[in-house]
Amino acid sequence: MKGIILAGGSGTRLHPLTLAVSKQLLPIYDKPMVYYPLSVLMEAGITEVLLITTPNDLPNFERLLGDGSKFGISITYKEQPSPDGLAQAFILGEAFIGNDPVALVLGDNIFYGAGFSDVLERAVHQVTSKNVAVVFGNYVKDPERYGVASFDTEGNLVGIEEKPEHPASNYAVVGLYFYPNSVIQVAKALKPSKRGELEITAVNQYYLAHKSLEMQLLSRGFAWLDTGTHEALTEATEFVKAIEKRTGLKIACLEEIALSQKRITREALYNGVQHLKGDYYDYIKEVVLRKETN
Ligand code: TTP
Repeated sequence: MKGIILAGGSGTRLHPLTLAVSKQLLPIYDKPMVYYPLSVLMEAGITEVLLITTPNDLPNFERLLGDGSKFGISITYKEQPSPDGLAQAFILGEAFIGNDPVALVLGDNIFYGAGFSDVLERAVHQVTSKNVAVVFGNYVKDPERYGVASFDTEGNLVGIEEKPEHPASNYAVVGLYFYPNSVIQVAKALKPSKRGELEITAVNQYYLAHKSLEMQLLSRGFAWLDTGTHEALTEATEFVKAIEKRTGLKIACLEEIALSQKRITREALYNGVQHLKGDYYDYIKEVVLRKETN
């Protein structure tokens, strides 16, 4: 399975923060925002990633993440000339996706919860073995801001509506989607919506209409943070700081994930970070030593 991170957009709600810097490069406590969605793809076992962003921001992402080898994966890049919608990712990514299924994660979405790796593993399995699409529903207070799921009396998913005035439920579709390879053709056949975008909700509606969409509901204890406003950005930082201080473990430390998946060796990791200063790299040095005593 291939993975795409969509990290373009205009970030207008965060102006002036995002006038000169991409939203997805802003700090969430101790690391850039894009580390969090990239960690999700890595946790799903994906090793080939395409990062799509604006022509302006692309060189900055490249400077940060390089070719991915320091995380034991491959990262390539593609420009999205203008923010024409989430579903455009599959058109821009056609050559990269090739004949594989694909996961899409939004560059400004943060996920945290026990058992998430199992949830991801199950999604990958469903897509690859059953050729269905898998999306996730999360209970929110303000569903009208998102794609919203509706269910019949037996709890079966029967509809998804984009930013409805009168939401049918409190379940929002989160910014992480798994699709079979047919998503490229589905995206190509879409017409822009009233707001001029190729809507991911339209893609999901297609799979639902063809009885090929599974929605997994994220459990109560699960945190899904979106970071589009100043308030949300600050809350995400406070959340990550609180969890990391309490547990002594970092969220979305890409080098740690790569090491645990045996995608990089302990020696290579230690050599790569031994001269680097600061709390993030001190943590990695601890991780290398800790694993050595295990
Ligand atoms: P949004 O939050 O819908 O838009 P935005 O990030 O441009 O912010 P604002 O509403 O403040 O202007 O986008 C969700 C995510 O998807 C975000 O990470 C940006 C990304 N995105 C793209 O990369 N390309 C696109 O065409 C769109 C619509 C969004």
